[in-house]
Amino acid sequence: MIKATTIEQVREAISQAREKLRQTNQQDGSNLIGFVPTMGALHAGHFSLIDTARRECGFVVVSIFVNPTQFGPNEDYERYPRPLEQDLAGCESHGVDLVFVPTVEQMYPAGFSTTVRVSGVTEMMEGQFRPGHFDGVCTVVAKLFSIVGADVAYFGAKDYQQAVVIKRMVADLNLPIRIVVCPTVREKDGLAMSSRNTYLNKHERAQAVSLYESLQLAEQLIRNGQRNAKEIIRAVRRHLAEHAPLGKIDYVAVVDPESLQPVDEIKDDVVVALAVRFPSARLIDNIRVDVKS
Ligand code: PAF
Repeated sequence: MIKATTIEQVREAISQAREKLRQTNQQDGSNLIGFVPTMGALHAGHFSLIDTARRECGFVVVSIFVNPTQFGPNEDYERYPRPLEQDLAGCESHGVDLVFVPTVEQMYPAGFSTTVRVSGVTEMMEGQFRPGHFDGVCTVVAKLFSIVGADVAYFGAKDYQQAVVIKRMVADLNLPIRIVVCPTVREKDGLAMSSRNTYLNKHERAQAVSLYESLQLAEQLIRNGQRNAKEIIRAVRRHLAEHAPLGKIDYVAVVDPESLQPVDEIKDDVVVALAVRFPSARLIDNIRVDVKS
């Protein structure tokens, strides 16, 4: 496994990998370069993205970069976990070919003045509660796509809105990369895997399970015929208020899976998404429910 810390090293390694893949000239996807952008503190969710990339591509790149521009002033940039040695060992054991670990100065040198801003799908939910967050995400992801030049990039469905925003950016900027969204990986009790789960104390951790429970309740209500989104939201909020009293709800939303616009009457496919702020960590989760399936 190659560890690159500079953009030049990545470009050199990628051009050599392309040359090798070209020589083997496979038709089964093994000539593709797959990319998993991360902020490190890798867990089973990340490893499932890496494993999917490994199965589908001939060369797998992971970036580890805690991107300062996507954190708000009072968020957890400083304390975000950075277990680099452990992450590198994890990448190695999952067959990653190249890990890119840039410094903040590499990514944002003095004079850096460009922001990639997607409108519309960034404005609700996370965008409403974390102003500027998606500008930071889009800017760094656009840069990483440009540096790595991969064919396919893998994102987790847990950050559902992020995946929609990135797909929009890729389409709007005609970036030559395909976005694959992989299922959320959960702990045994249903809590969605997240690097931020480690912040939770044992009382918060015990209550955090109610996020997924409330989403399962939403799914059950929809499958039992409830079509009024307000009723779903009310039931989810009630469940959270009862079972996660340490958490403050930022939002519970029932939205169209593509436009992310709120849905009033559920007709087919919706995403139920929520964010809950515990004293030690803010958690998000979502579930997609297709009444036709
Ligand atoms: O999902 C994340 O970990 C980050 O938002 C990403 C996509 C790596 C950009 O910093």
